[in-house]
Amino acid sequence: MPQFQTACKVSDIPAGKGKTVTVNGVNIALFNVGGVFKALSNTCPHRGGPLGEGDLSGTVVTCPWHGFQYDCNSGGSADGRPFSVATFETRVNNGVVEVGI
Ligand code: FES
Repeated sequence: MPQFQTACKVSDIPAGKGKTVTVNGVNIALFNVGGVFKALSNTCPHRGGPLGEGDLSGTVVTCPWHGFQYDCNSGGSADGRPFSVATFETRVNNGVVEVGI
């Protein structure tokens, strides 16, 4: 079972946006996908780009460094490349987003 830890306030990330947060020493890319929070490893497996700074379109985030795309639901590639990132559970508790690490 993951341990849920505070990541940020719900109000910190508007719908359609993302943010890099550090939870329990792990850098997480956290996105608000239409009111549902999705958490991925922040580190793009291509060359280490910060996915939390990438643009979100629907459920797909585009790495800001070279444009590789990942699906926030699965962590899998959204553009057919042989890369994927870890995903983490999230939950909202009293206006706070928590990530399960
Ligand atoms: S580091 Fe993310 S696409 Fe290259």
